[in-house]
Parts: sequence; structure tokens; C-alpha cells
Amino acid sequence: MTSGSFPEVRPRRLRSTPALRRLVAETRVHPAQLVLPLFVRDDIVEPAPLQSMPGVVQHTFDSLRGAIADAAEAGIGGVMLFGVPAESAKDALGSGATDPDGVLNAATRIAVEEAGDALVVQTDLCLDEFTDHGHCGVLAPDGSVDNDASLDRYRDMAIEQARAGSQLLGLSGMMDGQTAAVRAALDAEGFENVALLAYAAKYASAFYGPFREAVGSTLRGDRMSYQLDPANRREGVREAVLDVAEGADIVMVKPAMSYLDLVSDVAAAVPVPVWAYQVSGEYAMIEAAAANGWIDRDRAILETLTSIRRAGAEAVLTYWAVEVARTLKGL
Ligand code: PBG
Repeated sequence: MTSGSFPEVRPRRLRSTPALRRLVAETRVHPAQLVLPLFVRDDIVEPAPLQSMPGVVQHTFDSLRGAIADAAEAGIGGVMLFGVPAESAKDALGSGATDPDGVLNAATRIAVEEAGDALVVQTDLCLDEFTDHGHCGVLAPDGSVDNDASLDRYRDMAIEQARAGSQLLGLSGMMDGQTAAVRAALDAEGFENVALLAYAAKYASAFYGPFREAVGSTLRGDRMSYQLDPANRREGVREAVLDVAEGADIVMVKPAMSYLDLVSDVAAAVPVPVWAYQVSGEYAMIEAAAANGWIDRDRAILETLTSIRRAGAEAVLTYWAVEVARTLKGL
């Protein structure tokens, strides 16, 4: 049946064969648009599986090399490194973050050596993995997160990450002015070519739950005083516009699936690449449903990535990056 007045209008024509559907697909996912987050520890001898993220491990320096080689072979665009320091290496200032031999900086040197020009090595620039209180900044005497004192730590952390060879710094701490502070500090040290990925619209999300296991987070309390309220849409756009004005080369929306309106708004508002982070909870939900036989895992994964791209994200951080890239390449 067709509608009476427009008998010739038949949108289903273009859906009638696989070849036609492929030809008219508006959105594609390409391996080069995928970035793999990697967790690295320096106090384990074997990779440690994460219970809440089946298929994801905390790497040793050794297994990190293998993961980078696999990522390069799969043709993904980059890796994002997270350091997981031993409990004994954590303190109130997150000193491990600025130690040239701290786990993240040491891992970065290894990753850069292994990656060569095959992919972009990126690093998480945030204090939460390194502080004993688990916050993304340093604390004022009253226990609140001190914005400007945290910026001083980010400046030093950025310089150490650049020295270690990181090519793109992921500013995920959500302190006001962090992009401008880090840009100025890098430029003053001669690191003008180290690029900044600003987590512009990072929401205080329940979907980070499994990540906290992944990095052994000791957070007490919450991050509501610096991450965005899930209720707010225009505030996310404001953050992205500010980050671009401060010198962000790329801006990130995080998490992805519950924030596709933000991906779309930010893509319309700024002239730099917009990325999205498909976070640990998004990964865990699909893996858990699939393990129960409640969802077609492979279709669900590709559908989420396609949707994130469709909303306007040019690249996606996803724990499935290598697997999806291999599938796309028919490996
Ligand atoms: C903070 C950080 C978090 C994630 C990435 N960087 C957690 C948080 O803000 O509590 C979450 C990533 C994920 O859930 O996959 N450094």
C-alpha cells in the first residue's frame, strides 16, 4: 500500500537489496576512527582480567607491547593510556602523575616506542588514579576540590606526559581553565605540537562504575562539583565552546550513548573534531546482556558505534576498538 496522493513515494526501494543499502548508508565506522583505552599496572607480572569488564585486562608493561602491536595491526586510530599505580604509590597530591618513572609515564615511553607511526599514543591527564582520596584534583583544607591548585598539578603532569612522548593529552579532570593552563605550560616548554583533547562535556555518570574497578579507584564521595549534571544540555555546549576558545584541538563528550544530544549539539557548535567516549558501563551492559543470551552482541556493538558516529562524533573511544576494527577489515 502507498499513500493515496503520492503513489510514487516508496522509501523502501532503497532498502530492497544489500548492495543498495550499502550504497546509501549515511554513516560508516572506520577502524581509523576508533581509539582503544588501555589500563597499565607496574606491580603485576601477568595481565589482570577485570571482573566487571569481561574481555578487558589491566596490562603489564610486557602485555602492553602486545596490545599496541595488535592495535596497530587492526588499523585503529590510537590508544588512550591509563596508569594504575600501586596503593602505596598514591598520595594526596597524586605525586605519581608527575614522576617521570610513574606508571603512566613509563608506560607511555613503552607505547610510543612500540607504536612508531602506526597509531597515536594518547594519555589520560587526570589525577584521580594517583590520589589517595580518588578525586580528580587536590583538596583544599575544607575537603573541597581546589580548582587552581589542581591546575598547577595538571601543568606539571602535562609536561611529564609530553616528555614521555604522548602525542595527544586527554584532559579529563573537569577543572575550570584546564585547557588554557595546560596549553600555556606545554608551549612554554617547547611542546607546541603536543595536541589537546579536552573532555569538554564530561558528565557525572553512573556508567563509569566498572572503570573504578579498572583503575582501583579509592574515591570517597562523588564528582558532582566538577563533572556536569546529567540534567544539563546547554551547559555541555558551553563547556565545549570554552575549551575550544582555550585552545582545545579536539573536544570529547562522555559518556556516549546517553548523551547523543550533546554529541549532536557540540558538533554543530564547534569547528574542531568531536569525539565521544563509550564508557565502561556502556561496555559492561552489552557484555552482560549478551552473556545471558538476551542481546545479539555483535550487532549491538556495531549499532551503538554507528549511532555515536551518526550523532556527529568523528571518532569513538571504545573498549571494543580492536575487535570491531578486525571485523570491519574482515580479519
Ligand atoms: C577520570 C576518568 C574516568 C573515566 C575516564 N577517566 C572516571 C571518572 O571520571 O570517574 C571513565 C571511563 C570509563 O568509565 O570507561 N580520570
